[in-house]
Amino acid sequence: MRLIIENDPQQVARWAADYIIQAIHRKAATSEAPFVLGLPTGSTPLATYRELVRRYQLGEVSFANVITFNMDEYVGLPEEHPESYHSFMWNNLFSHVDIKREHVHILNGNAVDLEAECAAYEEAIVAAGGIDLFMGGIGEDGHIAFNEPFSSMSSRTRCKTLNADTIRVNSRFFEGDIRQVPKMALTVGVATVCDAREVMILASGPKKARAVQMGVEGAYSHVWTITALQTHPKGILVCDEAACDELKVSTYRYFKDIEKNNL
Ligand code: PGA
Repeated sequence: MRLIIENDPQQVARWAADYIIQAIHRKAATSEAPFVLGLPTGSTPLATYRELVRRYQLGEVSFANVITFNMDEYVGLPEEHPESYHSFMWNNLFSHVDIKREHVHILNGNAVDLEAECAAYEEAIVAAGGIDLFMGGIGEDGHIAFNEPFSSMSSRTRCKTLNADTIRVNSRFFEGDIRQVPKMALTVGVATVCDAREVMILASGPKKARAVQMGVEGAYSHVWTITALQTHPKGILVCDEAACDELKVSTYRYFKDIEKNNL
């Protein structure tokens, strides 16, 4: 696993956006196949999306040949609700770049048959050629996508009950009222994320420090699903200083040293 330690959330965003842009260009140089990008919602990726939009406006990247798959969506929340992940993605990224509408994939949390929706999503990922790069955030409890503690490490896209901690944390988007937060979501599984050819997880702020510590220094365990990154051949965790607060000094120094000559 690579651990990239940047000074602050803005630098995390710049690093992540650079990485995505380079990956898109690298594939385009050798193949006409679309670049397949997995994407998260949440507070953490917002700065990365702003940076991607800025770089698109500068003409440094195009999304015309990019296919996206989002990680998750609430069950039962109308797509047009301001806090749906559909709204989030269009408001913060897709409406501002040249992506084709038919290239955007977001789970339909209002599907009549949720199980069939999830199975079709897995099939669509395969049909697109698999995900080249999956970007994600990390929950305070170490979840990736909505794979809460004790999710199977071989889980696939499915309907998931959100735990009390996640509902509490996400209530900040619902006027602080936990009753308004949907109790279920559709989410890609841990194995769906880890099937991607590269996985890049972002973490900023002290609230993520324990999850980062477990993800980097902890043992592989379904208790902290972020530890799945340890088994990925190309897993990258991009953190700011505050998110590294709980790492051992020796771990922190090790990654600072080993990454200092890498871009
Ligand atoms: P956040 O959420 O970026 O809003 O902290 C991350 C997550 O829950 O995966």
